[in-house]
Amino acid sequence: MMVMIGASILSADFGHLAEEVKKAEEAGVDFIHVDIMDGHFVPNLSIGIGTARYVRSITKLPVDVHLMVENPEMFINKFEGIEMITFHIETCKFPFRLINMIKEHGSKPIVALNPSTPLDTIEYILGEVYAVLIMTVEPGFSGQKFIKPMIKKIDNLKHKISKEDYDTKIFVDGGINTETASLAVNAGADTLIAASAIYGKEDVKKAVEDLRKSAIISRIG
Ligand code: DX5
Ligand code: ZN
Repeated sequence: MMVMIGASILSADFGHLAEEVKKAEEAGVDFIHVDIMDGHFVPNLSIGIGTARYVRSITKLPVDVHLMVENPEMFINKFEGIEMITFHIETCKFPFRLINMIKEHGSKPIVALNPSTPLDTIEYILGEVYAVLIMTVEPGFSGQKFIKPMIKKIDNLKHKISKEDYDTKIFVDGGINTETASLAVNAGADTLIAASAIYGKEDVKKAVEDLRKSAIISRIG
């Protein structure tokens, strides 16, 4: 199975967003990842609903919104046509209700976990979500260093999913580059999300190819 790559526009040039999205498209990424922050759940503000909708309107690729916000249930109906909606388990009192809301809305639900949040917190929803997103940095900023102990967490999650025979996918987000991509894929990740390793490079096409190569090599090796 091919590893999927999502381009996080957090490191893109927002003044030329359409061109930046197109660059990622032409480089062959599998989806566009849109980070939304509220200054409460994470100590940063990024972009909002309007920009997510704009991105949805200009690309044929699937779009994933990553909600780093309190009360995510307030915003689900704002993301019409958006294929994947990622919420944080730390923000959510009633995850089954939220997952159903996202499904009824027509999107795939993805649950994200901060680095120190244990896998036990999602034990009972693991079979209900499309994917689990393992944050491999503390959320809030691009360009941070991959947190190495997350390799063990990915590996543990992979085992749990296999044991229960679920088809839940494993996404990783934060500090992904050619080196950490291999580590994450070897541990069981199917999907890599990267901002600076894609948009921080001169040549976006080459950056995506390099990420893909390191993911494929680690799958074979
Ligand atoms: C961080 C965001 C990530 C971020 C990744 O809170 O969720 O999607 O953009 O940035 P890099 O790939 O630079 O670590
Ligand atoms: Zn993200």
